[in-house]
Amino acid sequence: MKASNARDVASRIDIRAQVLANRPVRGRYWRIVLGLPRQGMDAFARLTPGQFILLDISSVGLPEQIPPELAEKANRHILLRRPFSPMAVRSTATGVELELMYKVVGPATVRMTSLRPGQSIQVLGPLGKGFSVLSTMKKAILVAGGIGLPPIYHLAQIIRSDHGHIMVEVFLGIRSASELPLDLDDCGQVDWALDIPVHLTSNDGGIGIKGLITDCLQDWLRTRPPQDLDGMIIFGCGPEPMLRQLARIASNNGIACQISLERYMACGTGLCQGCVVRCRQAGGPVYRLCCQDGPVFDAAEVLFDDHRA
Ligand SMILES: Cc1cc2nc3c(=O)[nH]c(=O)nc-3n(C[C@H](O)[C@H](O)[C@H](O)COP(=O)(O)OP(=O)(O)OC[C@H]3O[C@@H](n4cnc5c(N)ncnc54)[C@H](O)[C@@H]3O)c2cc1C
Ligand code: FES
Repeated sequence: MKASNARDVASRIDIRAQVLANRPVRGRYWRIVLGLPRQGMDAFARLTPGQFILLDISSVGLPEQIPPELAEKANRHILLRRPFSPMAVRSTATGVELELMYKVVGPATVRMTSLRPGQSIQVLGPLGKGFSVLSTMKKAILVAGGIGLPPIYHLAQIIRSDHGHIMVEVFLGIRSASELPLDLDDCGQVDWALDIPVHLTSNDGGIGIKGLITDCLQDWLRTRPPQDLDGMIIFGCGPEPMLRQLARIASNNGIACQISLERYMACGTGLCQGCVVRCRQAGGPVYRLCCQDGPVFDAAEVLFDDHRA
């Protein structure tokens, strides 16, 4: 085992968490708050944006209401724990709170909607490598597509609280207004809860600008004077085609870029070798593990499917 792996293993913990709140936001999006006792404090209070946890949903029952299109899927057994990147981490007097945003897409996430305050579930984490923020950075462009939002939201909070000199601009792309993963404030604006400019696009134009968020980013970059790109970094999380396009935009503009990738994760801890990411290396392509070397990668390192080398 590599020295860094030994460190990762030492800092992770498998612990019982109590559900403190669980509510629908809109459409298929829900937010859940988990309370971890004091023993979890050391490990989880240090969870960096982009790191993830594994939730054991295997013993959670089905809710009374199941979206009809998921009725068949919902009855499947859940053998594996499911990965989630928290959208907020809060230290409290009694321990630490993890807030997650989840989209109901299958048997585990359908069951999660039945969790009520007071119930408990098993949580393993923190896992993987998150986004890294350096003091040399001057402007952070945070790009999220749909349910890629949670780690980006967390990152925005951390930059605001710990790296006040870094300017932040958010680009959020969704399919339609019904898929907006955040609440709207009293003015009907996206309630980002942080004083950060937000560029919003939707595929159908029902909310924000009509189109893709990567096109919106490209248009915005075209209006920037060259000196603005100095010290700029793009952080992204969302569907892989969006991340591939982000990597291209960053490379074409000479901007650093970190992206959080998704893979099916059977173990989440480097054992099953099932979550490979094809990466560039001087001697030829190499395979890295999304759960251990990622999920956050330097975009220039990742070989996307259209980059067979
Ligand atoms: C590092 C990481 C962080 C994540 N963070 C979040 C988060 O904050 N909020 C959230 O809602 N989801 C997140 N996910 C995805 C989440 O783990 C899956 O949506 C969840 O496991 C689905 O479980 P299920 O049993 O409900 O549906 P499943 O039946 O397991 O999946 C339903 C459908 O979702 C897709 N899917 C499921 N898991 C993945 C995956 N890992 N990669 C690509 N496609 C997948 C597939 O199309 C599948 O058919 C994250 C995934 C990873 C790898
Ligand atoms: S999920 Fe098993 S090695 Fe990554």
